[in-house]
Amino acid sequence: MIRVATVQFSPVLGDRQANLDAISKLLDPVEADIIVLPELCTSGYFFVSREELAPFAEAPGGVACDFFQRLAEAKQAIIVAGMPEAADGCFYNSVFTFRPGIAEPVIYRKAHLFYQERFVFEPGDTAFPVIRDERLDVSIGIMLCYDWRFPEVSRVLALGGAELIACPSNLVTDAWRKVMPARAIENKLYVAVANRCGTETVGGETLLFKGCSAVYDPWGEVVALAGAEGDAVLLAKIDPRPCRDKSFNEFNDIFADRRPELYGAICRPR
Ligand code: ACM
Repeated sequence: MIRVATVQFSPVLGDRQANLDAISKLLDPVEADIIVLPELCTSGYFFVSREELAPFAEAPGGVACDFFQRLAEAKQAIIVAGMPEAADGCFYNSVFTFRPGIAEPVIYRKAHLFYQERFVFEPGDTAFPVIRDERLDVSIGIMLCYDWRFPEVSRVLALGGAELIACPSNLVTDAWRKVMPARAIENKLYVAVANRCGTETVGGETLLFKGCSAVYDPWGEVVALAGAEGDAVLLAKIDPRPCRDKSFNEFNDIFADRRPELYGAICRPR
């Protein structure tokens, strides 16, 4: 069984050191093989200008990247963390995945930008990663928060072999709690949502982040669940092997039964 830790906390807007300290403290007693942290966990969320965001944007070799790589080595764990990324004069809302023994993180840039993120970040231009780890014998798909509203993302990750989808999040609505179990069922895989909690107020507007981080199994059942408020580290043991068989009775298999040749065509009878 693979031990997955899903971290919920309330990052401080614009205080990277405070956020790294909080992550250190939360993870200090944790023994896990895969650790999933929220979206923008080193910077906070509600940036409305690129100038304000710039000091917190990361690139491989940066302060937070070094921190997470060292943590991945110390814990011999894969660490999936949402962070702002600086690349080629642009900013992306990205997920960095750090692996022990591999210096270069895998970077996924958020494809679907939410709310005012468009004023700060460029839309992602990376493919959706499925990271194969031979040591743990698992394939991890990465998506980011608002990507949940696009079933194509989890389907593409599942078709790419993902057995666990890690979804760093800063969710401010509740609808995802109905949909994420469906993403697990329709793709027969695990989903770990690391959502943040707390509030941020900028320019008189307050965002309330909804917590309730969760791990769902391939049948959509809750394996671990945090409260709406407060720090939490969820620990779940997952077995990726059932995710490799997409059948659910002797006749039906959710991959083999797909009809992609029909999905691009609409008929409009008069
Ligand atoms: C979100 O994508 N932060 C809702």
